[in-house]
Amino acid sequence: MRPFDGRRVLLVVSGGIAAYKSAFLCRRLLEAGASADVILTESAERFIGAVTFEGITGRPVHRNLWDTPMAHLELGKAADAIVVAPATANLISEMAAGGAKDLATATLLAASCPVVVCPAMNTRMWEHPATQRNVARLVEFGHTVVGPDSGPLAEGETGPGRLSEPEAIMAAMGRVIEPNARFGGLKIVATAGPTRAPLDPIRFLSNRSSGRMGYALAAAAWRRGGEVTLISGPGSTPRPIGPRLVEVETAREMLEALETELSDAHILLMAAAVGDFETDPQTSKIKKDGASGLELALRNGPDLLGETRELRRQRGIFTLGFALETENALDHGREKLARKGMQLIAVNMANEAEAGLEVETNRISLIDETGAVEEFSLAHKTELADRLLDRIESSIGT
Ligand SMILES: Cc1cc2nc3c(=O)[nH]c(=O)nc-3n(C[C@H](O)[C@H](O)[C@H](O)COP(=O)(O)O)c2cc1C
Repeated sequence: MRPFDGRRVLLVVSGGIAAYKSAFLCRRLLEAGASADVILTESAERFIGAVTFEGITGRPVHRNLWDTPMAHLELGKAADAIVVAPATANLISEMAAGGAKDLATATLLAASCPVVVCPAMNTRMWEHPATQRNVARLVEFGHTVVGPDSGPLAEGETGPGRLSEPEAIMAAMGRVIEPNARFGGLKIVATAGPTRAPLDPIRFLSNRSSGRMGYALAAAAWRRGGEVTLISGPGSTPRPIGPRLVEVETAREMLEALETELSDAHILLMAAAVGDFETDPQTSKIKKDGASGLELALRNGPDLLGETRELRRQRGIFTLGFALETENALDHGREKLARKGMQLIAVNMANEAEAGLEVETNRISLIDETGAVEEFSLAHKTELADRLLDRIESSIGT
């Protein structure tokens, strides 16, 4: 199942330099499972040809208000969401003023589905109070504005005005067309990735966690309308777009961030592989001298679930935790769930191929407070994240 399967998206392309990038966006929408109709403004056609989009979508491109009577009403009605990319200063101004002089503006005025607007223009055009006022008006209308990004612009200047990257636009689209948007009004805290216990200024103890499971959970919770804070340990896996990111390194830093974020949270998704041990790091590099090697004295690091147990209980924070086991997984999982005051625990086996750390897939046995077990067969972590959130939704009755 792809994230946009069965969803109909209307892509409105207006006349800016970034119009060529909308062809990539169009492809991404189709790859994600959406069907896409395209409207090109008259100016957009000076930058990119209709035939490009017809080749990508396999459907005729809509260009003129007068070609098909009522297209301006039908296109918006049929769409689950509209994305305007790039959105010129002119089109944004027309939208803010409620203009309907051409197919794009008339369709946007008539549409009642969610609209994602992705401005792209010269920095001075963007920063002009007129544009800023117009964009603020679109936000008042309930539209989602994505970007613009800052960076080098086509005309050699640098500053805000670049069309946002397709990943950011796709993430925003995912959130507006999510059929399960039942986390609205809820604050969700997710933790992900490994932590590091420094030994000296250069070395650390850590683990193989990639962060993927926690990132998938944070992304899915954000898509479902939640206000999501992701507390992530270090690593090179790309962070999801959408959730507010708090980067930490050590288990203690993660605990501090967690205590702060939990103060107004409703749900905790505790997917980080928090290191169990720590030591007082040397202030200078530990030298390799003598033949005897190095003995490390380690003590237990902070127990994040244990330390936050009372706070979570007082605030009624629904907690999903994870346990990575090598034997007696279910017994250990049940015991951990009770000891740490969780509502659900997802148990996976560290020594099973395609599951656990580092890989993109996982297999989970989900245990609830009654001890009952639900088996989730091997699947991509993004799919498992959705199934876990479905389960949380039914538990908390959203
Ligand atoms: C070479 C060139 C590049 C342009 N690039 C942009 C741009 O990136 N963003 C923008 O808002 N307008 C840009 N414009 C101005 C728009 O094309 C112009 O405002 C046009 O009326 C927009 O029409 P539309 O909003 O109906 O597509 C550019 C114009 C030219 C000639």
